[in-house]
Amino acid sequence: MKSIILIGYMCAGKTTVGKSLAKNMGISFYDLDWYIEDRFHKRIPEIFAEKGEEGFRDIERRMLHEAAEFEDIVLSCGGGTPCFFDNMKYMNQTGTTFYLKASPETIIAHQELSHTVRPLLQGKSGKELVEFISSQLQERSSFYEQAHHILDVNILDSYKKINIIVSQIRQILNLENGKMEN
Ligand code: S3P
Repeated sequence: MKSIILIGYMCAGKTTVGKSLAKNMGISFYDLDWYIEDRFHKRIPEIFAEKGEEGFRDIERRMLHEAAEFEDIVLSCGGGTPCFFDNMKYMNQTGTTFYLKASPETIIAHQELSHTVRPLLQGKSGKELVEFISSQLQERSSFYEQAHHILDVNILDSYKKINIIVSQIRQILNLENGKMEN
């Protein structure tokens, strides 16, 4: 089975849903940021600080080309991954892509629950944060919406809600596999 690739804005819930989905399907889970951190022995904010965003995007592209080729995995990407180079086209060719579509309100609520340092959001709060997220989300939407499947994600603050998204993804994959057998 081709890789299952989750995309969407920062804090949409890609890692949370990805881990649950992989567990539910009995396959391996990869998070592209974690994969980069493992391979480079550095945290994402350190890579941003040392190489700038441009340097990070080059690394991200190279690591995407390694990880997305694995079969029988769930891969959750960074929020910017689909928006650089031909990454979105590549992901659509290599795997089955799902866009976890979250509103700015959901993203902010998830961010408040998250402990991950995100260089692009760091130092922003209140109105400035809301405006930044809303405008970047709008800029990035045309990339995200190229995904094979789009799922609306509301605040994922319980296992029940996470499981609903996992079931939706499994249903879509079952339908697709059914189609392929015909
Ligand atoms: C980024 C998202 C982050 C990480 C980096 C840049 C982005 O991943 O790749 O900080 O440009 O949206 P998450 O979406 O997992 O936070």
